[in-house]
Amino acid sequence: MGELSAVYLSVHTPRYCTHEAAFAGKLAHPDFQAVRDGLVEQGRHVAAVRPDVIVINSCHLITTFPTVVDGTPRHRGVLTAQEAPELIHGVAYDFPGDYQLASALADRGRAAGRPCVLADDVHYPLDYGTVMPLVCYLDRTQTIPIVPVSVCLSADLEESFAWGRDIARAVGAADRRAAFVASGSVSHKLVRGPERWPGVEDQERDRRLAAMLADGEYEKAWRWLPEYVEASAPEMGGRHLAMMLGALLESGRRYAATVHAYGPSSGSGNYVISLGDGLRRTL
Ligand SMILES: [Fe+2]
Repeated sequence: MGELSAVYLSVHTPRYCTHEAAFAGKLAHPDFQAVRDGLVEQGRHVAAVRPDVIVINSCHLITTFPTVVDGTPRHRGVLTAQEAPELIHGVAYDFPGDYQLASALADRGRAAGRPCVLADDVHYPLDYGTVMPLVCYLDRTQTIPIVPVSVCLSADLEESFAWGRDIARAVGAADRRAAFVASGSVSHKLVRGPERWPGVEDQERDRRLAAMLADGEYEKAWRWLPEYVEASAPEMGGRHLAMMLGALLESGRRYAATVHAYGPSSGSGNYVISLGDGLRRTL
């Protein structure tokens, strides 16, 4: 039997996910340093866990009606981010895929009556919320197979949560030691000004959510999520958080937690949190 070995809440905002930020340490503002360093640590955590596959739910792989599970056996391309071509341009990626796991996951979704499409197409592009955290921080070797899963605008929190449950079930049945990555912000009330922080109340709610994750209170976090979404408007309506909580709860485990960092980007709040037995350091 496989298992969900680790779960990551990660960051993809272009301020952190550029070649300059990741490799040269050149950041536009000192407030970005903690998250950049946290992402480096999260990469070490992934290296320590060394999962067989990474299932990643990026807030920029957006579909309208079905959830898309990308089972393409090899994800190869060159990315220029549509909304930030001045920051993310010409990034080559070449990750193995996991068609078998993706297909099994899509089958589970369909069997449960959730609209779903399995992609298997070398021209299906990866978005920057998938590519940049992986290329710059979480798997710089690009050797761990990945299965991208979309955020679906027609899916509510319950449906997103159900996908998370099925991810944990599918990796168990497929005999994989898998990691799940939720790539997205927590509070997400965007404003112009890259260095701007969320408001005080939004920061407090973000910290409350992080504390629940760190304390293993996944059920409590799931019950609170609708209220949190209403108040703090997390990225993509919090669907990535719902999927993450579904995976956590279905695993039946309480993971060791490392809260690496929290920081701003254009009014959003961004946590770097690793759940699993990698490198442990709780801030
Ligand atoms: Fe984003």
